[in-house]
Amino acid sequence: MPKFACVEDFRKHAERRVPRMFYDYADSGSWTEATYRANEVDLQALKFRQRVGIDVSQRSTRMPMLGEMLPMPVAIAPTGLTGMQHADGEILGARAAETFGVPFTLSTMSICSIEDVAANTQNPFWFQLYVMRDRDFISRLVERARDANCSALMVTMDLQILGQRHKDVHNGLSAPPKLTLANMLNLMTKPAWCLGMLGTRRRQFGNIVGHVKGVKDMSSLADWTASQFDPSLSWNDVAAIRRQWDGKFIIKGILDVEDARSAVNVGADAIVVSNHGGRQLDGAPSAIAALPEIVDALGTQCEVWMDSGIRGGQDILRAIALGARGTLVGRPFLYALGAAGEAGVVQMLEILHTELDKTMALCGRSTLAEVDGSILLN
Ligand code: GLV
Repeated sequence: MPKFACVEDFRKHAERRVPRMFYDYADSGSWTEATYRANEVDLQALKFRQRVGIDVSQRSTRMPMLGEMLPMPVAIAPTGLTGMQHADGEILGARAAETFGVPFTLSTMSICSIEDVAANTQNPFWFQLYVMRDRDFISRLVERARDANCSALMVTMDLQILGQRHKDVHNGLSAPPKLTLANMLNLMTKPAWCLGMLGTRRRQFGNIVGHVKGVKDMSSLADWTASQFDPSLSWNDVAAIRRQWDGKFIIKGILDVEDARSAVNVGADAIVVSNHGGRQLDGAPSAIAALPEIVDALGTQCEVWMDSGIRGGQDILRAIALGARGTLVGRPFLYALGAAGEAGVVQMLEILHTELDKTMALCGRSTLAEVDGSILLN
């Protein structure tokens, strides 16, 4: 395996290894990508106060999320089509998370099914739910997550309608890829990926195909989501799902205090301040910019987490400094998976941990309990 020093190394390697259509899917934002860029830029704009002469010889980055003590406050975010970045990607990702000791979230839009991931892992994982038009299917999906012993349900609220991503339109994104001449030429340059895919039977949406009437494959992501996803989704629907699920309940895709309040009212144990990695409403604020107000308003009523833009341990520390009690990482996970499979994801998590630990120490703090806004310059 090549020597990876940071998330950017994984990204570069994944770009070479993963077919263009799927690499672009992971790496793009919607429309002008202004929000996608702002997520990273706004995080980097937060400057640390360097502190010296403080004993930081005994350190720990441990912190609980939903009552479970973790080696660092990070969970793997749900990401669609993960099994197209690397054969059996969701199973490999869940195993890597297990090895490192952080939660893994399986997306509704996964290639490996809930049952398949459960059969190939030891620990419970989290399941992310998209609400689709077929509510019986959604109800069964929640049952399937419970039967598979998933320890939390995460409902994503910000994708009632798919944000347009120009690269996906150009590439005609579908899973498995349509064999147009351009796609075939591109696939010929990705032999390791192709070999992996030939060796697996997991090439379709495992949670959906065979479970929703009439869904056999995806013509294009845009048409497919437009036909399956439910734009009428309301908080009443979420309340009904909450009643069906008696475990931990997470609501993801919140940028506004009013919506955060609604999430708490329907019984969220945690909310994820997120703009879907800049993939939905372009022109919306970065997640880190939206975080403090939501923490101020609701931080005592539920755990407020953040995702969108985290590219290293320093960003995790910035989010914690602004009041997040946890973070999710999506793209770092996909880059590491695409670059080097399961071992890559373990290594990526180790890198995040080292970066978090060293930055915390250079700010003169020994534990994350001591981290707040005072580690940042204002
Ligand atoms: C799905 O979650 C997507 O962002 O494409």
